[in-house]
Amino acid sequence: MTANELRKKYLEFFKEKEHAIIPSASVVPENDPTVLFTTAGMHPLVPYLMGEKHPLGKRLANSQKCIRTGDIDDVGDNRHLTFFEMLGNWSLGDYFKREAIEWSWEFMTDSKWLGLDPKRIYITVFAGDGEAGISRDDDSIGIWKEQYEKVGIEAGVCELDRKAEKNSRIFLLGKEDNFWGPAGETGPCGPCSEMFYDVRPDEGELIGTHDEMVKSFRLMEIWNDVFMEFNKTSAGSYEKMAQQNVDTGMGLERTITVMSGKENVFDTDLFLPIIQKIEELSGKKYADEENKKPMRIIADHIKAAVFIIADGVEPSNVQRGYVLRRLIRRAVRQGHLLGINENFTAEIAKVVQRMYGEIYLEIADDKILRILEEEENKFRKTLENGLDKIEKYLNNPEKNIIFRKVGDQAQEAPVFFYSDAADLVFDLYQTNGFPFEMSLEELKKRAISIGVSFDEGRLKKEFDERLEKHQELSRTASAGMFKGGLADAKEKTTQLHTAAHLMLAGLRKVLGDHIHQKGSNINGERIRFDFSHPDKMTEEQKKAVEEYVNAALKENAEVIMEEMTPDEAREAGAEGAFEHKYGDMVKVYEIPGFSKEICGGPHVKNTSEIKGVFRITKEESSSAGVRRIKAVVAE
Ligand code: ALA
Repeated sequence: MTANELRKKYLEFFKEKEHAIIPSASVVPENDPTVLFTTAGMHPLVPYLMGEKHPLGKRLANSQKCIRTGDIDDVGDNRHLTFFEMLGNWSLGDYFKREAIEWSWEFMTDSKWLGLDPKRIYITVFAGDGEAGISRDDDSIGIWKEQYEKVGIEAGVCELDRKAEKNSRIFLLGKEDNFWGPAGETGPCGPCSEMFYDVRPDEGELIGTHDEMVKSFRLMEIWNDVFMEFNKTSAGSYEKMAQQNVDTGMGLERTITVMSGKENVFDTDLFLPIIQKIEELSGKKYADEENKKPMRIIADHIKAAVFIIADGVEPSNVQRGYVLRRLIRRAVRQGHLLGINENFTAEIAKVVQRMYGEIYLEIADDKILRILEEEENKFRKTLENGLDKIEKYLNNPEKNIIFRKVGDQAQEAPVFFYSDAADLVFDLYQTNGFPFEMSLEELKKRAISIGVSFDEGRLKKEFDERLEKHQELSRTASAGMFKGGLADAKEKTTQLHTAAHLMLAGLRKVLGDHIHQKGSNINGERIRFDFSHPDKMTEEQKKAVEEYVNAALKENAEVIMEEMTPDEAREAGAEGAFEHKYGDMVKVYEIPGFSKEICGGPHVKNTSEIKGVFRITKEESSSAGVRRIKAVVAE
């Protein structure tokens, strides 16, 4: 079975079970600024899991593009990926545990569908959690036992943290493993039940705990059924939701791995065409152990990059753009290890486009190739410069006494070397973005070539110390900046607030008494001010208003505040929105000779505090009979 067939079968199966098939959402979450990427199929469905009505009904299924960067350092083993597809089916307050488990079993074992061997399937179920107040999932245990019974297997239950026994089929696990969600800090979540496949049945009976068998890669997780009936609140408690949902996720890559009788996701048709391309470009063989990891990392990272760019992200130094940049640069670095020194990421991307283009139309865009090419060019420049600097360092006999060989004897690098080299390596990293690992490789290469033994761990420690210190410093600096920035912005806003009073008075003087404030928005940068007036202002009128305000600023006029009743304020001729109800007392701010207005404040104490020249930068219609001005006070 190919991965394309598996995807198709899954959707067909759930269509037969009356699910509507929905398209994959973008890998960039549309309505959730708190997370960088879509990490699971349920993610775009959160509002519906919380009770909103989905236009296509209560049963949904799809294949969702997912990005999980938490596993980035594990990529290269047999099953961790940053990009993967999640096959999912959902019940939005419709079916619950029984149907979900029975259908999972049917899809996995029925020869019409996947036809997996029931003897090789193992299950985990939630053991309960006293602290969260959620009990052990006995319902699921019972339903799974029934499934095994149908094929004549007596399914034993293995208690939490115990070693497998002869008939162990169902393993109880705690909240860490068998409670899924929420996707962010709060939201829908619940106990889950996971399905594992034994990829090395010839090793005989399972030995050890469930965890040990997963870590030794004997058991491969392929599917997770979540019984999503709780909402985690911001206070950290779990509340039962009004509806009981099912959220499942079957990993396409892992499932096709076990279907193809493999132990490794990279040995499937979802990766082999990419790996072949890397072999071609590098002239190296995947079969050689030392090439495996770099080739896998390149394949995973460039595939992820293609999907991320396709959904509108470009490389940058922040957030999603930074993740993308990291993926591309890591891939280029691995290419370097394989001896690929020409641009190659776009070539790999073309293979990804051919593999997935018919299913995910958005990845066909040529823009993706251009962006990869540009980013790779940039990074190659960085690499070139960095390598150059290292070369110079190594060739400078004063700096680098260590690399002068003494006789024929290999010797340990002297202590001062590490600190000296770490300065260089850190500077390269910090100012040029040159990867630490590459510096390390270069230094190591040179040391080996002249027979000097050199302690990698020690250099890394020196480097980490510098990094930590730098991070501390920049944290302090940015905390200070933030404080100053906010304080400054607040002060400037107050100045502009007083200037806005002067402007309203100026408008009334120039345009007439029909002018009243209709709304305003002031920040540290500018005044935005709406007022009642039927016509566009002429240049002369704008100039006259500016002159009025600037005259007041030059005057060093005092700003006086008095409290009075609204009636007294009206009698005193203060401007205000008298059609609104004020409280018993109001504050009236007066700039004698210029302005008198009811307002809550705050204001400057003297117009001389307002620094700069007042200017109207824009005057336009806001709505019928209302004009909008934007104005600044600046040098
Ligand atoms: N949301 C569940 C998971 O990601 C299905 O495992």
